[in-house]
Amino acid sequence: MVQTQLLPYGPEAIAEAARLIRAGLPVAVPTETVYGLAADATDGAAVARIYEAKGRPAFNPLIVHVRDLDQAMVLAEVDAAARNLAEIYWPGPLTLVLPVRNGSSAASLVTAGLPTIALRVPSHPAMRDLLAATGKPLAAPSANASGRISPTRAEHVLASLGGRIPLVVDAGPTAHGLESTIVAVGPEGLRLLRPGPIDLGLAASTTPGPIEAPGQLASHYAPGKPVRLEASAAAADEWLIGFGEVRGDSSLSGSGDLVEAAAALFERLHEADGADRPRIAVAPIPDEGIGAAINDRLRRAAAPLRPGRPKVR
Ligand code: TXA
Ligand code: MG
Repeated sequence: MVQTQLLPYGPEAIAEAARLIRAGLPVAVPTETVYGLAADATDGAAVARIYEAKGRPAFNPLIVHVRDLDQAMVLAEVDAAARNLAEIYWPGPLTLVLPVRNGSSAASLVTAGLPTIALRVPSHPAMRDLLAATGKPLAAPSANASGRISPTRAEHVLASLGGRIPLVVDAGPTAHGLESTIVAVGPEGLRLLRPGPIDLGLAASTTPGPIEAPGQLASHYAPGKPVRLEASAAAADEWLIGFGEVRGDSSLSGSGDLVEAAAALFERLHEADGADRPRIAVAPIPDEGIGAAINDRLRRAAAPLRPGRPKVR
């Protein structure tokens, strides 16, 4: 349990929020859509603490908030179509899913290991001030506990996450009360992933299939090799990802720290995927706290590959 402070939006609240973000902690801050739970997107452990606070039993890629198009271009490949949309709709409630730029500083937990990243430039002054004060891209899903509805007032955040986060910045009710529109920009054109306040007319014209609901993304990262779980030792042809006492070829956390393990998860999986052994084994991970989300993702990684399950490498 932590003491949750509620501060009215202003210079003092933003300074305190920036201090907490720099310390690797998530803070609730309003955007023009819903209140977000923001953390430094370049710090994997800080991103893991978002999941820990939300009590979410699974990892999904998160939206990263940036100050402007220039900061977006540091993290993602912005082609002409994306630039055009950004110039029209940013700042505002449009999220663009773009290819991750080589050498991007975003933590792999933010993209859940995917080669794409979701970016938006928010218009709310509180989130904009926080982006300016920290100088960091900020990952921020809605500031509610897992399974609860998205918060449009500071009181909603307190009711849901009070005692689990250090600070809520209060700027009254949000303008849209609905999460941003999400559009994937790729070589095949634009694809609507989540309808929202901005209507690009995509559902009717260019979206071929059913809309992917958030949390049901077809494109989850999974290694291209068989994965064995609950392994206490490696077979000769296995690359062992360790945890705590189980020392492996690599480790999610030598000290058995679950937040550290969550932050390292996708990097260790990618590394194992690229190693010169045909199989991957993973040490047992306790199923408590954020360990449940780690185990959810490991079970998906270990599920046999089925046709129709897209594999992202
Ligand atoms: O209005 C909003 O967008 C709010 C406020 C706080 O800004 N934020 C929000 O973030 O809704 P979040 O992290 O909960 O949105 C996550 C959704 C995922 O469920 C998925 O649909 C999509 O964003 N997403 C994120 N990264 C993606 C990726 N690489 N590929 C496809 N979809 C992605
Ligand atoms: Mg949400």
